[in-house]
Amino acid sequence: MLNAIGLQNVGVEAFLAEKLPRLRALGATVIANVWGDTEEEYVAVVEALQDAEGLAAIELNISCPNVEKGGMLFGNSPTATASLVSRVRAATRSTLIVKLSPNAPDLVESARAARDTGADVLSLVNTFVGMAIDPVTARPRLSFGTGGLSGPAIKPLAVRMVFQVARALPDVPLMGIGGISVLSDVLEFLAAGASAVQIGTANFRDPGVSGRLVKELAVYCADRGTAVSSLVGRAQRIGTGGEAGAEG
Ligand SMILES: Cc1cc2nc3c(=O)[nH]c(=O)nc-3n(C[C@H](O)[C@H](O)[C@H](O)COP(=O)(O)O)c2cc1C
Repeated sequence: MLNAIGLQNVGVEAFLAEKLPRLRALGATVIANVWGDTEEEYVAVVEALQDAEGLAAIELNISCPNVEKGGMLFGNSPTATASLVSRVRAATRSTLIVKLSPNAPDLVESARAARDTGADVLSLVNTFVGMAIDPVTARPRLSFGTGGLSGPAIKPLAVRMVFQVARALPDVPLMGIGGISVLSDVLEFLAAGASAVQIGTANFRDPGVSGRLVKELAVYCADRGTAVSSLVGRAQRIGTGGEAGAEG
């Protein structure tokens, strides 16, 4: 999927007043995904969430333009990532997940910056910058020009990134994201080094996909008498048989 829907949402007050109580009533584990145009905006939202009951964690979406720094994405420079994460860390006691941008020039350095400044968990990856052009009119298909690429096409890239970050930072828990739609995708991310996964695009085709995969994973583990934790990082122990950066 290539999208440019932006990050419209109801805002933190309406989230706390309306959405969170409904999610809690359903028994859901809730993680709030936070974004901002400035460091101050991130901090203000995180402070507003601070005393909310029933929030399992806060996840920072750092794939957003910093309007005070000429629109450069917070996640595209380890310095900008470190500055943002340390300010948010000072503002919250919650479990802090930092969601990495795959468009960062050096993802491992960005991951290290987030870890060193207070991230408890790293989630990866967000969407890749992509573009589609109408071949007849030559106009970009998205009004914004570029958009975020997600879904099965990005899975090998995301798996490679999880593998590399897990290898570089073996002590940081990782959540793998990118193109997951069937159980084998989940197993692949776990093997790469993720200890949890997230599902985005596949929900558009099947809103029940997450619940189904949780059940399928439980059956997979029960059939083999194994625990999910023992599936984490298996590919790290086996190795790649070559360099993860091999081309051609
Ligand atoms: C329509 C759409 C909306 C998204 N909105 C957000 C968002 O608000 N915050 C965020 O951190 N990531 C957002 N993402 C990124 C996804 O959470 C996910 O990181 C990415 O799409 C890769 O996973 P997938 O291939 O399973 O979709 C969005 C993705 C899509 C397709």
